[in-house]
Amino acid sequence: MAGSWWLGFMLLLVPGPCRAWELFSLPFTLYNLYECGFTVDLDALDCDLARNVFGQHLARELLFKSVKEFIENDNPSKPLVLSLHGWSGTGKTFVSSLLVKHLFKEGSQSRFVHFFSPVLHFPRVQNLEQYKVDLKGWIQGNLTTCSRSLFVFEEMDKMHPGLIDAIVPFLGSSWVVYGSNYRKAIFLFISNAGGDDINEVALDFWKQRKDREDIRLHHLESTISKAVFSNPKHGFWQSQIINQHLIDVILPFLPLRPSHVRQCVQAEMVQQGLEPEEELLNNITDSIVYFPEDEKVFSSTGCKTVVSRINYFV
Ligand SMILES: Nc1ncnc2c1ncn2[C@@H]1O[C@H](COP(=O)(O)OP(=O)(O)OP(=O)(O)O)[C@@H](O)[C@H]1O
Ligand SMILES: [Mg+2]
Repeated sequence: MAGSWWLGFMLLLVPGPCRAWELFSLPFTLYNLYECGFTVDLDALDCDLARNVFGQHLARELLFKSVKEFIENDNPSKPLVLSLHGWSGTGKTFVSSLLVKHLFKEGSQSRFVHFFSPVLHFPRVQNLEQYKVDLKGWIQGNLTTCSRSLFVFEEMDKMHPGLIDAIVPFLGSSWVVYGSNYRKAIFLFISNAGGDDINEVALDFWKQRKDREDIRLHHLESTISKAVFSNPKHGFWQSQIINQHLIDVILPFLPLRPSHVRQCVQAEMVQQGLEPEEELLNNITDSIVYFPEDEKVFSSTGCKTVVSRINYFV
């Protein structure tokens, strides 16, 4: 009796449209409440990805599946390491922010979520050795504080090669961080590397009138890896992260079609409290640059310029 009252009370506290499904994940959520603000809501993540991420069936599926499996395993053999690839404006940072939002109570404000940008945090190549020491210390210190820490490395294609290898020990299965199960951590690496190759595959599918949703990871995985291997400016150049196969899943982001851009425009207008009128939607969508020049199949900037276009048109 007391148990059912408690469950009923807790259900009232669960927000959002996916409430009924969350009944089954409730004990899990409560359990994790005490793990440094780690309040996983997998159903809400699934909902958010399905509703708000356009044209990325592959990245969405792979992200959700790998995160779900990882989180539900109470004793993972290694941290979860994901590498996000794709053209600019296709949703890599956006999807990462949705993940963070549904894993941590305080979202990106959580002190257990750490963002790194090479331009911002590691700007000078002459400081490389110091950066390595600092980065290793930072990761180790934070894993000691919270085993469920999440680390996001943006613009990996601009990171000095060699630097990221400082954190190799934390990505495998044999390191010991005192007082912490560091294997529960999540690492995201984001880059544009492989973007051209992904675009080429997507364009081939389009030319052959094949369904975009039939693009699977095996169509892209090796070409993305090659693009990373062959780029001496990429942070993964000759990296042990690649040589030791420490990346668990590659998430490819496809170039966006005009219909996806239109969805982005509509979503952004609704978000800003604007009326998404048909004509305005069409005008804004048509104002974006598409490639190849003749066929205008994919947006050159994904959805990245949508906000500024809306400001211009409205
Ligand atoms: N697939 C998508 N679905 C919905 N919105 C998207 C998508 N892609 C991009 N957007 C919108 O465009 C904005 C810019 O996208 P985002 O910053 O995620 O691109 P990116 O892939 O990280 O690009 P870059 O490689 O230049 O960093 C997002 O904040 C989001 O509003
Ligand atoms: Mg980005």
